[in-house]
Amino acid sequence: MDKTAWHPAGPAPAARLNPAPQHALLYVDDVTLEYATPKRTVQATRKVSFEVDASDRFVLLGPSGCGKSTLLKAIAGFVRPTEGQIRLDGAAIRAPGPDRIVVFQEFDQLPPWKTVRQNVAFPLLASRSVGKHEAYDRADHYLEKVGLADFARAYPHMLSGGMKQRVAIARALAMQPKVLLMDEPFAALDALTRRKMQEELLALWEEVHFTLLFVTHSIEEALLIGNRILLLSPHPGRVRAEISAHRFGLHSQGGADFQATAARIHRLLFEHDHEPAQRREAA
Ligand SMILES: Nc1ncnc2c1ncn2[C@@H]1O[C@H](COP(=O)(O)OP(=O)(O)OP(=O)(O)O)[C@@H](O)[C@H]1O
Ligand SMILES: [Mg+2]
Repeated sequence: MDKTAWHPAGPAPAARLNPAPQHALLYVDDVTLEYATPKRTVQATRKVSFEVDASDRFVLLGPSGCGKSTLLKAIAGFVRPTEGQIRLDGAAIRAPGPDRIVVFQEFDQLPPWKTVRQNVAFPLLASRSVGKHEAYDRADHYLEKVGLADFARAYPHMLSGGMKQRVAIARALAMQPKVLLMDEPFAALDALTRRKMQEELLALWEEVHFTLLFVTHSIEEALLIGNRILLLSPHPGRVRAEISAHRFGLHSQGGADFQATAARIHRLLFEHDHEPAQRREAA
């Protein structure tokens, strides 16, 4: 709202008296996604709908091939829906933009000839959204947040897989996107490093409260990372259920409630082929 437009002595604007209803940040509305191959059309998702609120840690969970990555690519603007619409902050998504940044599973997301600091600052400089000084300030800020301030002048080949993912996360957050998209970012890490990265991501979220859309096919990871989890059916992906995971955190793994919810998710994903296609659980 333009604050200068309302004079304190004048009548209050209507929006102040009747606050507008809260709208979700991201709407995915009846989205069908397809790939045209030379022989046939492959349907990746079928009529998928969900909403993500600001500061959600929203997880897409489903078996291999159910269209999780394709959905993320569609939100990033790389794949156009054949049916339905995706809206971010009120605007239809038609192309990639700096308001949506993706962190992938692969460790080779960083140009090897740039230092860590240059890697983090690079997209900011390329997007011309800020000047050089601000870009490097932000790079330093987010490198510190992911615990890599001491490696700012190192090159990617000098880093472990986990450290490279930290750089990728710092680079993404430095862009201050409206939504951070993560596609199985820790799947290629060993179990201990993966666990540490999950902890760090949650600690970072506690500090920055960014909006996260996180893809995984691990039920445990979904429960640890997410506050909301969307379950997708096997190929082609349709919404099977939405689960609330607000009450779970790093401390809950192994607890009875955690295990029971994990078992329920497993059943919903794999054993309920005769259930209605979509249902919402107020767990
Ligand atoms: N470039 C492509 N061309 C044709 N079909 C594709 C292409 N990319 C993905 N697909 C197909 O679309 C479907 C969904 O793929 P997608 O990669 O989105 O699944 P996913 O849920 O991310 O799987 P995973 O958990 O294995 O990463 C699959 O059947 C896949 O074979
Ligand atoms: Mg995938």
